[in-house]
Parts: sequence; C-alpha cells; structure tokens
Amino acid sequence: MRSLIDILDFTVEELDALIRTACDIIDNPTAYAERCRGKKLATLFFEPSTRTRLSFEAAMLELGGNVIGFSEASSSSAAKGESLADTARVISCYADIIAMRHPKEGAALVAANNATVPVINAGDGGHCHPTQTLADLLTIYREKGRFDNLTVGFCGDLKFGRTVHSLINALSRYAGIRVVLISPEELKLPSYIKKDVLAKAGIPYTQLTDLEEAIPQLDILYMTRVQRERFFNEEDYLRLKDRYILDAKKLETAKPDLCVMHPLPRVNEISVDVDKDARACYFKQVLYGKYMRMALILKLLEEAAQ
Ligand code: NCD
Repeated sequence: MRSLIDILDFTVEELDALIRTACDIIDNPTAYAERCRGKKLATLFFEPSTRTRLSFEAAMLELGGNVIGFSEASSSSAAKGESLADTARVISCYADIIAMRHPKEGAALVAANNATVPVINAGDGGHCHPTQTLADLLTIYREKGRFDNLTVGFCGDLKFGRTVHSLINALSRYAGIRVVLISPEELKLPSYIKKDVLAKAGIPYTQLTDLEEAIPQLDILYMTRVQRERFFNEEDYLRLKDRYILDAKKLETAKPDLCVMHPLPRVNEISVDVDKDARACYFKQVLYGKYMRMALILKLLEEAAQ
C-alpha cells in the first residue's frame, strides 16, 4: 500500500507528475469535481491545525468525496489509551485514505505500517511535513519556473521546523541549489540534516544569525515561526520568538524577483506591510497546497485501486 510519510518516498518524476496534475486542476477544476465520488478521507489530527486539516478537507470535497475525522486527540479513542496501530486498523475499515497529524516523530509511519489504506503524513512532531512541501514546490514552480540553480534562505526555527526539514530534503535532489540557514544558535538546523542531506548531496550552505546580511543574495526566503509547542521552557521561547521580523524596509535590499514564503501560521515573523509586496507568496502557497493535496489524493487512491 503506497503512502506518503516522507517527501523522499516520491521520486522527482512523481513530484513532477503531481505538479502537472495540480496545474491541470487549476485550469480545469470541473473535470475533477466528481473524481472521488463515493470515497472517504479520514483526517486524524492528534495535534492542532487549521490550514492543513481544512486544506485536506477542501481538497477531498472539491474532488466530490467525503470527509470524516477528528481534530484533537482528546476527542479520539487515544484519550482512552488506544494504540496508534489499532486506530489505524480501525479507521481503515471506514475510510479509503487517511491524513494524519501527530505530535510524535514517526507516528505516521506506525500508522502506515498498520493501516490497509494509504496514509498521508500531515506532520509528525518536529520531523517532517511532506504535504507542506508539495505546496512549497508548486509555489516555487509557479513563481520561478524551475527547481534548480536557486539560492534558498531558511529563516527562524530551523531546529523544530518540520516544513524546513522536508523542503530541504526535496530540494537536495536538484542541481545548483545553494542554502542559507538563518537562525539563532539555539535553533540551528539539526546536524543529521546537515550531514545526511546537505553534505551528502554536495549542497553548499552557510549558517548565519543575521537576516539582513542574507537577504540580497536570495531567490527564495522561507520564513518560519518559532515552534512554541516544541520548547521545553517558556522563557527560551519568549527570548527567541521575535528574533527575526521581515518588514518592508528589510526587503529594500532584496532581489526584485525574490519569492517570500511561509508555511503559516505567521506570528510576528513577517510584518503585515510585506503582504502587499508582489514578492509575498505565502497566501498563494496556501491555495497551491489545496491543489497539490487534490493531486496527491488522486494519485494514492489510483495506486491503491491497482
Ligand atoms: C506548519 C506546521 O504545522 O508544521 N504549518 C502548516 O502545516 N502550514 C508550520 C507551523 O506550524 O509553524
């Protein structure tokens, strides 16, 4: 049974095909409006989410399918002590496909190993978030028209930011990528990603603590929120949360075709005065996420039927 747990589960060719499908859905939405008629998506969200869960739900509804699920662990049988393996087996009897978010790293893999329907990882702790990466890739494709020869800056919480981890993995397969890592000392990209992904793929990277210094060279700036829920103490969070704030002034030295991205929710990392700048792409990114999730649901359901 094919699932999506890590973005590297899909080849570059498969990602290209998903992007083609998403672009076709954007151009011909009515051709897809009945494609999942009679099918059910279960959204199992053990961790709070607004956009990802609603994006999955909107995606399934726009394909003509139905949605069941829960949006907090306390309203599921996990609160009674049910194991994830059992939950996955049970939900497989009700739904054709599962999208799951969980605070523990590796949870989606456990579910996929026990489910009899495809499982989509909608975020597992500080590990990865492959469907956000699908949204990010379509945004980059539509804005830049390519995935190679880009200088990509990641700014903020690179330690716990699972969207950053997944996007770095995805970009590591293209030629001519350069990465600029901008974070406080305490929130640096985990060394396993530097070693096993960046160094292994031969991607040149620099680590900075200063955002202004990085901006002029970037083609893409990926801002992130400090992940409060993964901190061990509130004091550290408060000290670090407003470390980076992108505003119109800082963008003055940026390239005219810079693409500013953010997986959202935004807290203070991007000042609202940036929203009207043509380089702000984060709301388009949300919309692209829905189209990529539609393409993904179609692909996994088609493969499951074979
Ligand atoms: C991200 C996540 O959940 O990791 N949000 C999202 O899915 N769009 C980023 C975040 O919560 O900061």
